[in-house]
Amino acid sequence: KGCKLVGCGSAVPSLKVSNDDLSKIVDTSDEWISVRTGIRNRRVLSGNESLTALAVEAARKALQMARVDPDDVDLVLMCTSTPEDLFGSGPQVQKSLGCKRNPLAYDITAACSGFVLGLVSAACHIRGGGFNNVLVIGADSLSRHVDWMDRGTCILFGDAAGAVLVQACDSEEDGLFGFDLHSDGEGGRHLNVNFKEQETHNEMGSNGSVLSFPPRRHSYSCLQMNGKEVFRFAVRCVPQSIELALAKAGLSAANIDWLLLHQANQRIIDAVATRLDIPSERVISNLANYGNTSAASIPLALDEAVQSGKVKSGQTIAAAGFGAGLTWGSTIVRW
Ligand code: ACO
Repeated sequence: KGCKLVGCGSAVPSLKVSNDDLSKIVDTSDEWISVRTGIRNRRVLSGNESLTALAVEAARKALQMARVDPDDVDLVLMCTSTPEDLFGSGPQVQKSLGCKRNPLAYDITAACSGFVLGLVSAACHIRGGGFNNVLVIGADSLSRHVDWMDRGTCILFGDAAGAVLVQACDSEEDGLFGFDLHSDGEGGRHLNVNFKEQETHNEMGSNGSVLSFPPRRHSYSCLQMNGKEVFRFAVRCVPQSIELALAKAGLSAANIDWLLLHQANQRIIDAVATRLDIPSERVISNLANYGNTSAASIPLALDEAVQSGKVKSGQTIAAAGFGAGLTWGSTIVRW
């Protein structure tokens, strides 16, 4: 059985935050941010906007493009590391979409690699599990997890959602070719949002041991990152991963129409393209307008490129995600 991408959509919050806006809250400048990262603006959830609602809007647009009814969706993969319910947002998205046949819905947590993992998981569910219409949604709100006083990280991130509908098809039409996926927990210390226990009430247990009970308030630390290490990791591992995925697909970098990387930093995108010998005219980037939107960045950039007519039906795209975990992976798809 084959699988193909048949629709895409995206949604961003209404509040736009420019580099100049940020320079009013931390010691930074438009020049520093744009030269080092390529980012000029980002969108941030505000008021009563919710990430789940953005995910639903993106998914609805993908279904409309594909002309598929929500009732015909049999799996929703919600790729997010910032769910609005720790138990997962997928079922809430399923409910709000109005999928009356109650398809399976669950979350995939793999930071900025989440969407690529979602695409590969969709293909596995279709090829091995009998699923027919799988919504893969990438949605993240890292604005809720950064320290807005830390100029080293708060300048990088934005909030967004993007979605793609992956559909079963005959093997001749197959549009999801090779893939390559990795993780390295050892490198996780370079980028994380760690769990922290704030207060505990210590008591002596009956056998003399100290009990931390009852547990009090718990929360997560703000995002912490060693930018230089993350930069080195991305530039070293992503080109290798794309080459492995291309080799599995029987292709080379010269055969692909577009390079679509997780939008983390323009200098990372340029360095990976240079290593693969892919000219900038074949590289998709919308980072300047949205910053790093984690699992949403690839479907958001894809949707923009499809809507503008840049990416055309039948074209081949090498997509790669990388980020916390550390995790990274690539897949070769036909639009
Ligand atoms: N404005 C002004 N100065 C700043 C800012 C800022 N926003 N941030 C840091 N600086 C200062 C530092 O304090 C430091 O000053 P010092 O020399 O007086 O100590 C100086 O600028 C250099 O700081 P570095 O952190 O060494 O800057 P670097 O050149 O490494 O650039 C950056 C930082 C842009 C974060 C870069 O390391 C990077 O892009 N790394 C990749 C990060 C990334 O892509 N992360 C996300 C990927 S994974 C995911 O998506 C979750």
